[in-house]
Amino acid sequence: MPRMRELPPLPLTHSGEWPDRRAELVDAFARHVYGRTPTGGTTAGVEDRGSVAVRGGRRSDLDVTVTGPLGERVVPVLVHVPEGATGPVPVVIGLNFAGNHTTTPAPGVRIHRNAGTERGARASRWPYEEILRRGYAVATAHCDDLEVDAPGHADDGVRGLFPGDPADPAGWGTIGAWAWGLSRILDAVAEVPGIDPAAAVAIGHSRLGKAALWAGAQDERFAVVVSNDSGCGGAALHRHRGPGKETIAAITTSFPHWFAPGFARYADREDDLPVDAHQLLALIAPRALHVASAVEDAWADPLGEYLATVAASPAYESFDLTGTRVDGEEPVSLPALGERVEGRLSYHVRSGGHDLTAEDWGHALDAADGVLKVAGPH
Ligand code: GCU
Repeated sequence: MPRMRELPPLPLTHSGEWPDRRAELVDAFARHVYGRTPTGGTTAGVEDRGSVAVRGGRRSDLDVTVTGPLGERVVPVLVHVPEGATGPVPVVIGLNFAGNHTTTPAPGVRIHRNAGTERGARASRWPYEEILRRGYAVATAHCDDLEVDAPGHADDGVRGLFPGDPADPAGWGTIGAWAWGLSRILDAVAEVPGIDPAAAVAIGHSRLGKAALWAGAQDERFAVVVSNDSGCGGAALHRHRGPGKETIAAITTSFPHWFAPGFARYADREDDLPVDAHQLLALIAPRALHVASAVEDAWADPLGEYLATVAASPAYESFDLTGTRVDGEEPVSLPALGERVEGRLSYHVRSGGHDLTAEDWGHALDAADGVLKVAGPH
């Protein structure tokens, strides 16, 4: 059996036509995968609940009020800003899985109301001191504060701020809600002194990496997008037949709430899906994109993620930028472990399993350094 069926083409044209082709492709991902993000939402207010000095910077605990036509919701956002910068600094924006208080052991951070995880339990995924030292601000919110990650929460999360028909096959899912939230956090940090909103990086691990890609595909204010082990429904090609990888049947059975209801139609029919992951990656062009894999993370299909970057590379090349493709040839194996394949679209695979590590952050910030004006390291 071939490793992979032919991929749907990138809508490659003269780069001047890209805005129109881009809009059509965003619409195709909305229709078939994530559902349509409604318009009319805003960030209505940002309240600083308290700022304190931390090693290398300042930490602020914000209440961000997001609104839609049917109401509003308050989302706690934790922001770290480096000290001593002479001008506004770039900002990395990413959601976390278990509460802002789990990203740092610092005692002052508000405990999430449904807290089941201890302070600092996920701190290894948020190396704040090093991020600050590199000259970046960083903002995070708990994904559940946008929308609880389980079926049946469409009404009590941010989707509930908008009218919508739950039976609509192209209605948005939780990943769409999280992606919308990333854009609202970008609105909010634009109000924070010392942050440059034109130098924003969207980052996410795994399901939250799927959300970061979809946010970056839709919202061109994100100058850099980082996908970490995002796998199925993220950076991995559905059409790649990787051993032990997650399939559309598996993901839409375990996590039906993540996607547009119509996505489940493609269970066991990946070759019929009108789009594939390389086109999602191409939607970030000509902005910077970094895709990260872990070699033991078969479920997220590292080779499928790498091949997606290769197949997305022509979109970057049409802007005279480089991707990960070398000499137009399709690679058959992963690049060397721990080395970033550099380009405006870049890639690395590290040793180990499914996680967001300091090594991943290092490569991600190297990729961001390539396009953003960064004052660090301090
Ligand atoms: C599950 C799911 C993946 C997801 C991952 C995660 O493994 O099947 O699609 O990326 O959880 O979010 O950690």
